[in-house]
Amino acid sequence: MTPKDGNGTMTITRRSFLAALPLVAGAGIRTGSAAERPVVVMHKDPSCGCCGAWADHIAAAGFPTRIIEEIRINAVKARLGVPAALWSCHTAEVEGYILEGHVPAASLIRLLAERPAIRGLAVPGMPVGSPGMEVPGVEPDTYDVLAFGTGGPSVFMRFHGSAPING
Ligand code: CU
Ligand code: CU
Repeated sequence: MTPKDGNGTMTITRRSFLAALPLVAGAGIRTGSAAERPVVVMHKDPSCGCCGAWADHIAAAGFPTRIIEEIRINAVKARLGVPAALWSCHTAEVEGYILEGHVPAASLIRLLAERPAIRGLAVPGMPVGSPGMEVPGVEPDTYDVLAFGTGGPSVFMRFHGSAPING
């Protein structure tokens, strides 16, 4: 994209570029398996900004992303079967699974590789340092990615910021 006209045209071009960004980012990844990564559809409240940052993180991992703005986001969570105790900001769908909140791409990749019989993964709340929730100068939280949909939630992976903790 190389806008050559005046400021007005640049603004319009930039807007349409930003609107197309998730798909462009997904298609532009050069890693081998990226072309086969499935689409992640994210439902978000129009006023929430960290959701877009999470979508950027998912797109950077090679997943084409689609964003649907929902005024009644909690109704979407209820419809998709996310337990209220696990609610975060956005709710995403990928390959029949649900991703609630700021689930790191590393967990999504493992989920799709292993395909466990669960409803989805959740990072309840909004841990500082989780993808899309980075705060410069603030020490990231240690937090769990929980699997849900088969009885009570269980720990799927544990992270410190964006780094997985083995165990
Ligand atoms: Cu958030
Ligand atoms: Cu969000």
